[in-house]
Amino acid sequence: MLEINAQETAKVKGVSRRDFLKFCSMMAGVLALPHSYTNYIEQALAAPKRLPVIWLELQDCAGCTEALLRATQPTVSQLVLDVLSVDYHETIMAASGNLAEEAKEATIKAGGYLLVVEGSIPQGDSEFYCTVGGKSAMQLLNEAAANAVAVVAVGNCAAFGGWPMASPNPTNATYVSELIKDKPVMNLPGCPYNPVNLTAAVVHFLTFGELPAMDDLHRPLFAYGARIHDNCPRRGHFDAGEFVVDWGDEGHKRGWCLYKMGCKGPVTFHNCPAVEYNDGTNWPIKAGHGCVGCSEPGFWDLGIYNLADLQQYAPPTTFAPVQLPTQKIDPGTAGVIGAVAGVAVGAAGVAAYQALSKKDEDAPTPPEEKK
Ligand code: SF4
Ligand code: F3S
Repeated sequence: MLEINAQETAKVKGVSRRDFLKFCSMMAGVLALPHSYTNYIEQALAAPKRLPVIWLELQDCAGCTEALLRATQPTVSQLVLDVLSVDYHETIMAASGNLAEEAKEATIKAGGYLLVVEGSIPQGDSEFYCTVGGKSAMQLLNEAAANAVAVVAVGNCAAFGGWPMASPNPTNATYVSELIKDKPVMNLPGCPYNPVNLTAAVVHFLTFGELPAMDDLHRPLFAYGARIHDNCPRRGHFDAGEFVVDWGDEGHKRGWCLYKMGCKGPVTFHNCPAVEYNDGTNWPIKAGHGCVGCSEPGFWDLGIYNLADLQQYAPPTTFAPVQLPTQKIDPGTAGVIGAVAGVAVGAAGVAAYQALSKKDEDAPTPPEEKK
């Protein structure tokens, strides 16, 4: 197997050392790591090793594979893929038929690979609605997971069932973490997932030898630790009560809040406002449509244009509610009460956010300190 590292690949592809370091620094940023960790990332990517990958496409639309292929900065993202050895990906590999299956079997036998899964898995009487090479999706997943070091479920279908599992779930579909219980499983939901987050997760794995910290839905906190609503550029309009109420109305032209058009930003955790899609070109809300909640379980059944439940993640009221005055007060006192209320609500929001966000002291142990 060809031994190559990211820096050598960068040279071959005409990427300067400066751009390579910028990439390492950007990855530290996406992973919410202290800037000093850039050096560890650089060292990890410079090491001459390749991590074998098996990528299974099961019950899906291939949108996540398309997202991977449409990343238009192969000079950086491809760098990471070049430190991976993608031994099996039926959509993009040159081999087909028995040759392709043999490549996969050899990788499984050798062990120590990362298994990436795209698509949901039909089960029970419907198991054979999805077959590849005469084997059901269920058989393929169990075989490939057996010797994997970790499993990454990309896209909503693999992470939470996606559209195949939407009501009435005609193929009795399920998702990866429901089936694989004896391996670390990381979910990167989205419809499609964002390749930046797969790149960052792989960089984390190569740098620290472990998957990043995750929430209770197996999603890495660096990418799913904050609500869309809390980082949305239209949030000021939400707070001011300025809403779009019809497509193309004056509020829409002015970039007002899309909540009344069904935006699910208040109930959706994803880093879209920070990293955007298509190499930072755009993302749904910036393009003028509400978030449909594609990184959350069961989003298809929420109804794209139904109102989001604003109470779903309301911070618990652990503080005494501010008593409103019953008598006339002077403007100075009103200002103090307003400030107290603002601080109390703000503190609850910050506490909720901090509980979900990685703090510096939570950053993974640097590789050299592990030895
Ligand atoms: Fe942004 Fe949607 Fe929240 Fe409005 S409801 S501020 S558009 S995330
Ligand atoms: Fe999906 Fe909403 Fe982001 S629809 S892509 S989570 S803005």
